[in-house]
Amino acid sequence: MSRVFSGIQPTGNLHLGNYLGAIRNWVTMQDAHECIYCVVDLHAITVAQDPATLRQGIREMTAALLASGIDPERSILFPQSRVRVHAELAWVLMCTARVGWLNRMTQFKEKSGKDREGASVGLYTYPVLQAADILAYKATHVPVGDDQKQHLELARDIAAKFNTDMGVELFPLPEPVIQGPATRVMSLRDGSAKMSKSDPVDAARINMTDDADTIAQKIKRAKTDADALPSEVAGLAGRPEAANLVGMMAALTDRSADAVLQDFGGQGFGRFKPALADAMVTVLAPISARFNALRGDHAAIDAVLERGAERARAIAEPVLAEVHRAVGFTG
Ligand code: TRP
Repeated sequence: MSRVFSGIQPTGNLHLGNYLGAIRNWVTMQDAHECIYCVVDLHAITVAQDPATLRQGIREMTAALLASGIDPERSILFPQSRVRVHAELAWVLMCTARVGWLNRMTQFKEKSGKDREGASVGLYTYPVLQAADILAYKATHVPVGDDQKQHLELARDIAAKFNTDMGVELFPLPEPVIQGPATRVMSLRDGSAKMSKSDPVDAARINMTDDADTIAQKIKRAKTDADALPSEVAGLAGRPEAANLVGMMAALTDRSADAVLQDFGGQGFGRFKPALADAMVTVLAPISARFNALRGDHAAIDAVLERGAERARAIAEPVLAEVHRAVGFTG
């Protein structure tokens, strides 16, 4: 039995990086697995949030996931805060996890920066809530980006220690499904920086809402070097901007970077960029059309989320009941 669980933060301003890096993979996994996808609003408030922006972010992310092809009939799509089990199980698992384990989490160090004393306690225990997300569904496979590897290791450690401490075989150890580095989409202005929703330069990213002309313009003006494209991937070494554009083309057209270079090796960016823009428009135009049609329909979005939460509760509540028995609260 396999069950996929993954979570995504309810950020607005979705871009190509979100799509190629995570969402597209979630869509494909639906074909072969039972999938549970969660908009992690409880995680979002570990750093300051404006309520109106958060409310909008949850709906926008949901609309983007639906527009990208997450099928709410086949998969469960819901907001974390609507299923109380996440917070309740997180409490129990906070009593399983060790302070020493959390002290090793590199993402907390990065996110809290210089002002560690001023970070929220929630930011510190963030990875325990993430473990609860996964374990509440006894998920076996967790698609995540490379940066989440350590949190997944922690979830496995927590699951194993809970099972041992309570003398039960309650939680399966979840396996990370790491999304390849080929799908790390970088800025169009700096091939060494990740494409980001918070980049002040809009031309550095392709937004989910950009129309065909805007996409073509942004690709045309994307930073490159003066050389022609190499005919093998090895020739992209030291050319981050060229590597980024070739990587995008590969991901958008579902082939390897080598296959892309077999077609475009020896050619300049004047030939390559229009082809890349075309491929991008082909993939993104139907998604952004669906997204724009859906994003204003709050009633439809909220109905999907409510139904998803109901189905999620039906799985997670019995697991929490098992946990309560294992711990000695009941039974
Ligand atoms: N921390 C994850 C991220 O930033 C999001 C997340 C929350 C998640 N809970 C999860 C991912 C559970 C996988 C499983 O990408």
